[in-house]
Amino acid sequence: MSKIAVLPGDGIGPEIIDQAVRVLEAVGQRFGHKYEFAWGLVGGAAYDATGVPLPEETLELCFNSEAILFGAVGGPKWDGLPLHLRPELGALLALRKKLGLYANLRPVKVFPSLANASTLKPEVVAGLDLLVLRELTGGLYFGKKYREALPDGGTRVVDTLEYTTPEIERILRKAFDLARLRRGRVTSVDKANVLESSRYWREVAVAIGREYPDVELNHMYVDNCAMQLVKNPGQFDVLVTENMFGDILSDQASVLGGSLGMLASASLGGKIGLYEPAHGTAPELAGLNCANPIAAILSAAMLLRFSLEQGREADCIEQAVTDVLDMGYRTADLMEKGKQLVNTDEIGSRIIEQIGRET
Ligand code: IPM
Ligand code: MN
Repeated sequence: MSKIAVLPGDGIGPEIIDQAVRVLEAVGQRFGHKYEFAWGLVGGAAYDATGVPLPEETLELCFNSEAILFGAVGGPKWDGLPLHLRPELGALLALRKKLGLYANLRPVKVFPSLANASTLKPEVVAGLDLLVLRELTGGLYFGKKYREALPDGGTRVVDTLEYTTPEIERILRKAFDLARLRRGRVTSVDKANVLESSRYWREVAVAIGREYPDVELNHMYVDNCAMQLVKNPGQFDVLVTENMFGDILSDQASVLGGSLGMLASASLGGKIGLYEPAHGTAPELAGLNCANPIAAILSAAMLLRFSLEQGREADCIEQAVTDVLDMGYRTADLMEKGKQLVNTDEIGSRIIEQIGRET
């Protein structure tokens, strides 16, 4: 039996994760697998219950599982805490680091019936299929962070951006390996006209690129990339970049697919993979049963594909999502005229029905 750690977290986390778990159960039933779910506290919920955002017990549960299904963490209630106790740093970033999850895959795919849902013109986004590969355990997120008092009464604040050769090499290798399974194009995104770390990143990209003569490599400055993503996103296949650049660009790219509520992610690199929607806790939607659970559901599909090697089962989930969108069901974030508005658990139920129906 495959053991899956389930960490719903805060805000809309529990609501969307409930749907992802129901979907996994339905797929398990259809394909004759039994998944064992082990629930754990994380983020603000864990802080409130135990005084820390990532309790030992949760960590142990993760290490004893094959994969982790993660909701989202953080919220205004915990914003005032010191950085190391905040849900974002103290739980999510700590977990990524402890599990060695350096590669974050964020696939942006435009489902055919959502080409009109984007704020961009349908002809710009139709048929789009790109992958943002975000470095996840280095760079600005994991540099030195501090403040120091200055004699003039002011303050000096510091965040450093650091990478080592192996850290850059492994994420680039991952980009090339993934590109080989796709359309064979890597765009390495940096700010090499200003940052030393980017200049070196570019050198390493060129060197690793020589190991992959069959993959086309090009480089792009991050500011230009932000512009190209809305101007001509079809040019991208695999887009690989530093942690914070990837954080920003992936939120931006998600809109091509209709909504941030559609963007799933897989964090890989260690023995245990972590799967989470790329969106946050949306505190203003929490408890209202109106959030879009599809990013969480598609993250669960990635879990099956990458951690449990259940590719057919993952395909089945993705097909069910496609079908339900084709039928016209929409959560509020994707709502258009003429479509049927459904809430969080209704869209979950429609997807589950499709899973049962597919042959
Ligand atoms: C994400 C989120 C996190 C990040 C936050 C919650 C720390 O925005 O997964 O993209 O910035 O990595
Ligand atoms: Mn983000």
